[in-house]
Amino acid sequence: MPSVYIKTYGCQMNERDSEAVAAQLVAKGYTLAPSEAVADVILLNTCSVRDFAEQKAINKMVNVIADARRARPDVVLGFMGCMAQSRGQELIDRLPDVDLVLGTQKFHRVVDYLDELLAGRREKIVDVAEEQGSEATIREHLLNGNSPKSVTAFVSIMQGCNQYCTFCIVPYTRGEERSRTIPDVVTECRQLVSQGVKEITLLGQIVTSYGKRGFGKIDSLAPRGTSGERVGVRGILENELLTPALSSPGEEREKKSPFVKLLDAVHEIEGLERIRFTSPHPKGYGDDLIEAYARLPKLVEHAHLPVQSGSDRVLKLMHRGYTRARYVGIIEKLRQAKPDIGISTDIIVGFPGETEDDFEQTLSLAREVEFDQAYIFKYSQRRDTPAAEMPDQVPQQIREERNQRLLEVINEIAKRRYSAFVGRQTQLLVEGPSKKNPARMTGRTRCNKIVVFDGSERHRGQLMDVQITRAGSFTLYGDPFVLGEH
Ligand code: 5AD
Repeated sequence: MPSVYIKTYGCQMNERDSEAVAAQLVAKGYTLAPSEAVADVILLNTCSVRDFAEQKAINKMVNVIADARRARPDVVLGFMGCMAQSRGQELIDRLPDVDLVLGTQKFHRVVDYLDELLAGRREKIVDVAEEQGSEATIREHLLNGNSPKSVTAFVSIMQGCNQYCTFCIVPYTRGEERSRTIPDVVTECRQLVSQGVKEITLLGQIVTSYGKRGFGKIDSLAPRGTSGERVGVRGILENELLTPALSSPGEEREKKSPFVKLLDAVHEIEGLERIRFTSPHPKGYGDDLIEAYARLPKLVEHAHLPVQSGSDRVLKLMHRGYTRARYVGIIEKLRQAKPDIGISTDIIVGFPGETEDDFEQTLSLAREVEFDQAYIFKYSQRRDTPAAEMPDQVPQQIREERNQRLLEVINEIAKRRYSAFVGRQTQLLVEGPSKKNPARMTGRTRCNKIVVFDGSERHRGQLMDVQITRAGSFTLYGDPFVLGEH
């Protein structure tokens, strides 16, 4: 059987999509190649969020064409995911050696398409169409193949985003918000737990919007349409879950959003130890979600809450839908509910029109909130997004300089916050050997900090207590305190 090598760029959603694609291929008898040098099929799962990410994948494909294609003329080459979605046929026009371009709603077609390409029945395939029900097709996992058991897993709960932030290409690459049903997600989670998974991260581009636009559902028995696509049964509505989170004034307020109902349902799964999710949006971050942290012991004390800017003027230009005060208010409430909560964020520097004063407000927000970690992005113009056309684009050099200044502040704060753990006892979920030093093991605290310690394979998957002895850059070092093998 053919072997396939998949290289993934970008976010956790992309990692998850690649895993599902690999699992679907393995289920059909494909093997996973250890490197592109020996693969019959090479797929690049791409990211479009910044130009840099696109260039990386394109350059990689150029190199693959030069090396692999020359050595093995029959090798099948494909782009999948976000850049495939936004560029489509253009990618083959530019790189005629590419055989397959597969959009974000078509991952589940990969087996059929590769079979056709490998058999020579078709020469090129570009499929970037929308497909109803595709949100429910990212569900296969590659667990326990021949490697040690997986402790953590990602579960995709929804696809797409309707927020239309002015800088962001995601609504165009991932499409409209579509959510899987609660039973569908819970079934997948249950299965993972029965296979030994202890921690699940629920994934979506904007999880706070989960279920707000209804639920689509794929019916695997649905007839194929004339174009050969499965016809999803859209709009199987669960009325109870569609109640708006906020009703008009005077009416009784619905207390729980669909997302919190999903958290409740996943929390019920016996044997599951920890729940995480990413990414929420501050606009939809209701009190019900804050209260869930206090109420649900398996929901660990970590919130990744992208802020993007500390300036209200810039937040408005970005179409974020909240103010700095609202953001800070959410963080305050989260810290009231869970004082040890780890807070991470995404920040963009050099958004069009961002002045020195606006940027200083971002610096002051970073100091005010004291993030444990922040991912800083230099603004990148994306095709078809409103911000790309805005006046006062910030010169590249200033974007670089602001990136550097913010990084210094973020690192200084993180250093302080990580150092504060030294001497404390904390609970880890042990994930596996450290990448840097396989003789040591790594685990993650509930607040999402990586801890490296002297341990062995037998600790994998265990919750254990360690004493933190040292803090490094975004890493803690620990000594097993009580080998509390719960
Ligand atoms: N330029 C720079 N950063 C961006 N992001 C999204 N779009 C852009 C862009 N055009 C960042 C945001 C988002 C993260 C995943 O990527 O901070 O939260």
